[in-house]
Amino acid sequence: KILILDFGSQYTQLIARAVREASVYCEIVPYHHKIEFDPSLKGIILSGSPFSVNDANAPVVDVESLHQKLPVLGVCYGAQLTAKQYGGRVANSNKREYGRALMTKEKEDILLKDVTDNSQVWMSHADSVLDLPAGFEVLATTESIPYAAFKKNGTELPLYCVQFHPEVYHSIEGKKILKNFLVNICGCKQDWTSAHFVTDTVAALKKQIGDRKVIMALSGGVDSTVAATLIHKAIGDRLYGIFVDNGVLRKNEFQQVLDTYATIGLNVKGIDAKELFYRELKGKTDPEAKRKVIGKLFIDVFQEEAKKVEGVGLLGQGTIYPDVIESVSVHGPSVTIKSHHNVGGLPDIMHLELVEPLRSLFKDEVRRVGAELGIPANLLNRHPFPGPGLAIRILGEITPDKVQLLQEADDRYIQGLKDHHLYDQVWQAGAILLPVKSVGVMGDERTYEFTVALRAVTSVDGMTADWAHLPYDFLAYISNDIINNVKGINRVVYDISSKPPATIEWE
Ligand code: XMP
Repeated sequence: KILILDFGSQYTQLIARAVREASVYCEIVPYHHKIEFDPSLKGIILSGSPFSVNDANAPVVDVESLHQKLPVLGVCYGAQLTAKQYGGRVANSNKREYGRALMTKEKEDILLKDVTDNSQVWMSHADSVLDLPAGFEVLATTESIPYAAFKKNGTELPLYCVQFHPEVYHSIEGKKILKNFLVNICGCKQDWTSAHFVTDTVAALKKQIGDRKVIMALSGGVDSTVAATLIHKAIGDRLYGIFVDNGVLRKNEFQQVLDTYATIGLNVKGIDAKELFYRELKGKTDPEAKRKVIGKLFIDVFQEEAKKVEGVGLLGQGTIYPDVIESVSVHGPSVTIKSHHNVGGLPDIMHLELVEPLRSLFKDEVRRVGAELGIPANLLNRHPFPGPGLAIRILGEITPDKVQLLQEADDRYIQGLKDHHLYDQVWQAGAILLPVKSVGVMGDERTYEFTVALRAVTSVDGMTADWAHLPYDFLAYISNDIINNVKGINRVVYDISSKPPATIEWE
């Protein structure tokens, strides 16, 4: 295992993902956490940070005390912190570097083994190391900085530093450098694979659950399905899944998802609660009010069903690693833009012990584990879909008629994306029903009907997103297809806003 000490960099999770991609298990912890030095821990990586090491309130750890126990790699801020603590000089010079740089190797070293000379690396720093501490030697430079990679000499454990970000995509051979550190320097075995994960997790679940029963809300999404499948593998039909039709799912989604669960062999009960949701949503137009109603009703319905299963001991959840990483806050608490409700996050009202088999996985790892478990690819590659479903894509009041109208348009849009091989190229897509009517003409008839907006975005994690540059031909096709086939819609527009400043959903 590798530990990544987080100093608040936006790239910390990328380091973790790069380490995992090298099939090495790692965890992120805030820099100030106490470290358990158990034998499985093979090395430590110090992350970047928005701070300067010379700031009065800069986050610090005692690098030397870590290095006395394990190999250490400092990245960007981590490198500067190391240089400073060992007596080097770090300052805000005129040598700021952002973006691409070419790295010249000064010395052959195991860290840069098999890395080509003049390899592109990605920089993002205002401060630079101007003088190396005594006992350190330079391994690589760039055009603008003398110390792009360096290490401590001596017979003790290895201590390496890189000013660039090996974890980002644009550091072309960054993954190789990380792998050299993990495998050749720390001696990690590359045994963090999906198959291992499944075997270990199923064994751990058997141990945790024993002969008790688990209840779980399923959403048809990747996380809850993969989590449920693992639990099912451990305890079979003592897992009781519940899938609620809240009336704002996609067209035919309720049945399709239940069918898929049946194929996988999961014991899932479908609850048709459409009418209840429509009744309570009636008259509600405010987005947050709609979210609240849906969140609350969902819990009510789930609890009602949970009561029917006698002697339930545990609650299954599809929590994944990004939900549990404790973030190092550098700008104070962030404001709530939208209160997200989803079935992965039932509040702790049932006071049941939790079973969360995916707590340590990133989303891409969840997909790989899902594939290992034989879950159909169309489910694993599904776009994210918000817990409140189409309710936050129908602006204004929700009525069953509007839901049906949007379901039709959305279904044509998604099917069109699939038919044109565009579905997998976008991160998320959906149609939004606008609360305006406009005039159109069909044949010799005047129409006065609704508009749908189509949204498709590219993104990595949903935090930032760009509108997808779908081909004009496709937009022309889908606009015709929707208007000609969905009665009640006479206008289609395409949303070309990025996030920020817009958000992915319209509400
Ligand atoms: P926004 O609109 O905030 O969306 O840019 C970012 C991602 O979050 C999803 N989203 C939600 N997911 N409950 C959810 O489970 C919600 O209330 C909710 N609101 C937004 C959105 O679909 C996108 O993937």
